[in-house]
Amino acid sequence: MNKTAKDVAQSVVLRYAARLRYSPSEIHAVSIAETVDIKTAVLERRGVTIDLLDMSSRAHTGTFKALLAALAVADALRDGQAAYVTASSGNTAEAMAAYATGHGIESFLFVPAVSAYKLDRRWLQSAGVHLFVLDVPEPQLKQIAAGFSRRTGWPMLPTHRHQIDSNKLRAYYLADRYRGGAPLHDWTVQALSGGYGPIGFYDGIRELLSEGDWPADQAPKLLGVQQQAVCPFVEETPERTGRQPAILEPTLYATNPKHADDLRRAVREFGGHCLAVDNQSYLQREPELVRLLADHGLACGRAVYHPEQPVVERSGLIALAGTQDAIDQGIIPSGSRVLVNFTGGCCPDLTEPATAEFSLQAGQPVEEFWAHAALYQRLADSNNPV
Ligand SMILES: Cc1ncc(COP(=O)(O)O)c(C=O)c1O
Repeated sequence: MNKTAKDVAQSVVLRYAARLRYSPSEIHAVSIAETVDIKTAVLERRGVTIDLLDMSSRAHTGTFKALLAALAVADALRDGQAAYVTASSGNTAEAMAAYATGHGIESFLFVPAVSAYKLDRRWLQSAGVHLFVLDVPEPQLKQIAAGFSRRTGWPMLPTHRHQIDSNKLRAYYLADRYRGGAPLHDWTVQALSGGYGPIGFYDGIRELLSEGDWPADQAPKLLGVQQQAVCPFVEETPERTGRQPAILEPTLYATNPKHADDLRRAVREFGGHCLAVDNQSYLQREPELVRLLADHGLACGRAVYHPEQPVVERSGLIALAGTQDAIDQGIIPSGSRVLVNFTGGCCPDLTEPATAEFSLQAGQPVEEFWAHAALYQRLADSNNPV
């Protein structure tokens, strides 16, 4: 589909695809207005101004993973892939399926049972989308998905490169804003899982700095925010006694220990800090943060069938709470301007859970999944005669 100049202006993916060397025809075919926007001064606290980089409310599937999916699906289309495999705690799987649908590419999605409540049926019920919900620990889920990819010959997507490139887009976008006179930021904040967001963002800044396209010595410091239950990037975690804290947000559960080095390198180079938000303190503030966002037109959807965890996506809210903590603890000083990456949070209320093609219950032998998957092994054999 041909895109107009207006489409290009709206989509950060279309605007910078050539810079990232993605094939223009495929990017134009898959792009769905990947729009990001800055909401200025959503909060002032102790002399600190907080802006939001909204990567949620206008993203096709409500999270920054829409940018990632646009790049990954464009490559799949260029390579003539009939299908691909994704292991994800939800947001990436949804974005990949939504972007692949309509392009004749089948989606094989592996999602852990703990996060299945977050899934929005709208993106997952089309023909060609195969949803497998497995009640196994995340490392095992990834192993099973990788095994399925090996057996079928269909690639695991997105790749590391897609992850990094999709987050470089943020740097390109901000560089253009700053060049246009927008105020610079002293800090950038993100809720972390694998750390791809800041790793890709700082790669983008390094690239722009080397080309003279980012104001010299003006890169923001990083505030990485994690939840108490999963905080490998936080160096000074408080001594813990008693019970392991509950997971506030399964999206932020995935961790890739290999990324810690890249993230620490960025913090050494540009400055920054990682902290963990206390569960109780977060939960007390959640209603007020949800109201604050609603006042700025950002509606946090609820899964009405899942009362234990009513807000579908807490990542953006957790980033905001972590920013408040960093200000109160004097980590971010008065007079600073902060950009919180609102990576996800906005979605309509979910009224009905998504249905999986195959679910593996806790304790059920994994062989039962492989018996189901044999169907696709045969399909792949017939597509890829060796
Ligand atoms: C909405 C949202 N925010 C933040 C993250 C954290 O991503 P990363 O740490 O890889 O930048 C994720 C991904 O898992 C996400 O889906």
